[in-house]
Amino acid sequence: MSRYVIRGRERLQGSVTVSGAKNAVLPMLAATVLTRERCVIHGVPRLRDVQVMCEILRRLGASVEKEVDKTSGTSSLIVDPAGICRSEVHEDLTREMRSSIFLMGSLLGRLGEVTMAYPGGCDIGPRPIDLHLRGLEALGANISERHGYIHAECRDLVGAEIHLDFPSVGATENIMMAAVAARGATLIRNAAKEPEIVDLQNFLNAMGANIKGAGMDVIRIEGVKELKGAEHWVIPDRIEAGTFMVAAAITRGRVLLRNVIPEHVESVTAKLREVGATVVDSDGCLEVIGPEILKPVDIKTLPYPGFPTDMQPQMMALLSVAEGTSIITETVFESRFKHAEELRRMGANIKVEGRAAVVKGVKTLYGAAVESTNLRSGAALVLAGLVAEGITTVDGVHHIDRGYEDLEQKLLKLGARVHRV
Ligand code: EPZ
Repeated sequence: MSRYVIRGRERLQGSVTVSGAKNAVLPMLAATVLTRERCVIHGVPRLRDVQVMCEILRRLGASVEKEVDKTSGTSSLIVDPAGICRSEVHEDLTREMRSSIFLMGSLLGRLGEVTMAYPGGCDIGPRPIDLHLRGLEALGANISERHGYIHAECRDLVGAEIHLDFPSVGATENIMMAAVAARGATLIRNAAKEPEIVDLQNFLNAMGANIKGAGMDVIRIEGVKELKGAEHWVIPDRIEAGTFMVAAAITRGRVLLRNVIPEHVESVTAKLREVGATVVDSDGCLEVIGPEILKPVDIKTLPYPGFPTDMQPQMMALLSVAEGTSIITETVFESRFKHAEELRRMGANIKVEGRAAVVKGVKTLYGAAVESTNLRSGAALVLAGLVAEGITTVDGVHHIDRGYEDLEQKLLKLGARVHRV
């Protein structure tokens, strides 16, 4: 397993171009199953999770080609879903990536049935899928579960009114994808409002769907007979953007972010300003200047537009070296504080009590051998390594590869002393 070796105390300077949003591309790839026509998705990040989703589509019978644009270096995926004829998603792939669950809605819409292994949880909590299953049942799917497999089938899908107990991102997206193929109208109440949901609505509408309201509490989907192919540019990854904003703040550097939608990172900008960073929004770019003194702030993660849970570990790293005590409350996932233990190995003073973490800022973090156990905690440990005295080795880099395209190159370009071994 490869690891990052980081020598800290370098101020990051320069500009970085943010990649396309992983959490927008994954449901979009699942949505291509709903048509027989060719789809092209531009601005796709080269990530392990994207490769896995492409592999799943190929095993279902689709063909998926990748093209890299010589000038911009960004990649596009050309999906030809005409050949899709299988409805089983193999266990090895559903285990590796929870997002395979998105295929339930689109395979039900295309083939009227789907079989897949229960997607694995991960170390941020049990990650149940009850809201997905209840939503699909409301649309007419018969769902049975045995020996760790879920089987869903339906003669036809009929629009329904669905109220989500929790604004689940995945459940909202899964239900949207099934509802576009249902007869009549579907209402999703208490829907998730993340920008990735709006991007999915735009992609599905480009395919001929009739969806309104994504980004608000209620999404209305009028079922259509069939969907055609579409071409679409993915929105920038707001979590990658937030991670680089924190990297500028924690190293007291100055970083210009290109390919960012400022509104999508509004809650992170507000918090970084509270911490004392300067954030300047200039014609579609964001410049972040880290302050000499980092002030403590309280963070409470909430569904969008609240402070994103996917930025909580990165903020914990930042607040570990603030001048004072911060309280971080994680309301979205049950146990998303694994990184606290690793940060403590670097000298951080963090006390976790259930869903709250008390972070007493320390003057200095010290390089240590630490291990990332998931995507965002890995990013947090890299950030801590950038500011720590001495050398930090971060194990489990394959987790980071799932969600950060060319992280090492991007950090090197900003002056960080990091390399992968
Ligand atoms: C999406 O996961 C993202 N993943 C996650 O990003 C992100 O952390 C999460 O949304 C919250 O913003 C993708 O988009 C691929 P949820 P998802 O359903 O859809 C509970 C990353 O780092 N819940 O909104 O799985 C669940 O247990 C990843 O890129 C149910 O109880 O998140 C959790 O506590 C990590 N029943 C809460 O809702 C359900 O049926 C939020 O989950 C579904 C969810």
